[in-house]
Amino acid sequence: MKMSQIVLTGVLFFGTTGTWATGMDARQEVSLPATLKTHMLHNMRDHLLALHEILDALGRDDSDKAAQIAESRLGMSSLALHGANRAGPYMPPAMRKAGMSLHHAASRFALAVQEEDSQKTYKALSQITASCITCHAQFRLR
Ligand code: HEC
Repeated sequence: MKMSQIVLTGVLFFGTTGTWATGMDARQEVSLPATLKTHMLHNMRDHLLALHEILDALGRDDSDKAAQIAESRLGMSSLALHGANRAGPYMPPAMRKAGMSLHHAASRFALAVQEEDSQKTYKALSQITASCITCHAQFRLR
């Protein structure tokens, strides 16, 4: 097991398994104004949809489509779309960091898939999902 996998497994174990077992929720509550919360949850559902569309494009060998979805909806180009400058100030530093690591990983994915480097592509894809998991294990909205 590589270091990154060990860290992620630890986050998952303590972040989710431990709390299921006790019926408690140890995630940190982050308070957002109602409209920003609605907007963020809407973005979240689009994140999942974008991931699905990326996998679907990969399955059809359509690298351009996969890159375009990743960059525009998850990557650095998506920051404006997500209103990052409005929600960012409400987020604890670790939450912003997880968000930025998602956006960086998605932009790396977009480049790698266009270079047809499958190892880099899947590495970046798993860094995307690792960012989702890391943030979800630590934070919830109020
Ligand atoms: C920077 C932190 C962060 C990142 C990164 C992140 N999320 Fe979330 N996500 C959240 C928070 C916080 C919630 C609300 C959880 C709660 O209140 O219980 C959420 C909720 C969701 C929901 C539920 C939406 C709803 O309508 O209730 C989905 C689906 C989701 N995220 C998908 C994803 C996917 C897929 C990724 C990665 C591509 C991702 N998220 C990355 C923080 C994040």
